Amino acid sequence: MKNADFEGVVDTSDEWIVQRTGIRQRHIASEGETTADLAEKAARAAMKDAGVTASDLDLIILATSTPNYTFPATAVEVQHRLGMKHGAAFDTQAVCSGFVFALTTADQFIRTGQARRILVIGAETFSRILDWTDRTTCVLFGDGAGAVIVEASEGVGSSDDRGVLTCHLRSDGAHREKLYVDGGPSTTQTVGCLRMEGKEVFRHAVGMITDVIEDAYAATGLGSDDLDWFVPHQANKRIIDASAKKLGIAPEKVVITVDIHGNTSAASIPLALAVASKDGRLKPGDLVLLEAMGGGFTWGSVLLRW
Ligand code: UT7
Repeated sequence: MKNADFEGVVDTSDEWIVQRTGIRQRHIASEGETTADLAEKAARAAMKDAGVTASDLDLIILATSTPNYTFPATAVEVQHRLGMKHGAAFDTQAVCSGFVFALTTADQFIRTGQARRILVIGAETFSRILDWTDRTTCVLFGDGAGAVIVEASEGVGSSDDRGVLTCHLRSDGAHREKLYVDGGPSTTQTVGCLRMEGKEVFRHAVGMITDVIEDAYAATGLGSDDLDWFVPHQANKRIIDASAKKLGIAPEKVVITVDIHGNTSAASIPLALAVASKDGRLKPGDLVLLEAMGGGFTWGSVLLRW
């Protein structure tokens, strides 16, 4: 769906959307297409790319705020569709930070030896929870899914090891009113629509993002100059640019996909990883910094070697 397709739907323009957000288009799931459908496609693509089958997986962690149903978890449906009868599957819910929370959870399972190979998915159909009469939100979000496989391997314990090096998660429920969905099973018995005070979210975003990135640098002794790629949550190009500038990350190291995907919440980072991996930017051994911030508020960073 291109920006121009909003003309006649709400009072907006391609110029406003591009200037304020960097978004040029977003994808909308077709009628009847669900989060599990998108998640399954991403999962199969990741498994093919990694050369693993369902029997090789111990665990599936699916980050989403737009599950197929209140329960069971969408991850369990994906597990079934992949033909996986063993192991376990569960969803995580941290809105736009969902993939960072899911990858951090996977890292803990790997480090403790509870799992050896984990499928981590970010999948969303935000088009289903948008108020399509509200121009301040409906132009910002899109649908999509991305997935990675995380596998245990022995390292030497230095930052030269491949895999997840450090993770830092934060949340603060005091900010609930700034970004939330106005429905739920226990309150309204409805699904509800996304509501956001965009300016307020924007005001907090850069500070929160840079704080958890500085935590990652402090934990590893690495810094912006060491990075090969910065793959941030894709909400708004202005937030990404301001965060990169504050941290001294060179613009050519920043992977931007918000222009083609819009904000796909928990799917945005794995989608950006997929784009940068497919076009050859991400290479084995590259140092990659992920960060996200979203509803809750939740925010977090993961520093990894690809
Ligand atoms: O994933 C994490 C969660 N989300 C985010 O990170 C989003 C964070 N926030 C943002 O990205 C930005 O705040 C927005 C893109 C949502 C808005 O940009 P802004 O520069 O903060 O604009 P604003 O809210 O101050 O609005 C400026 C004007 C307003 O009109 P007035 O009051 O100045 O007359 C809005 O009503 O733009 C108006 N406006 C629009 N105009 C055309 C708001 N939405 C639209 C629109 N088209 N779609």
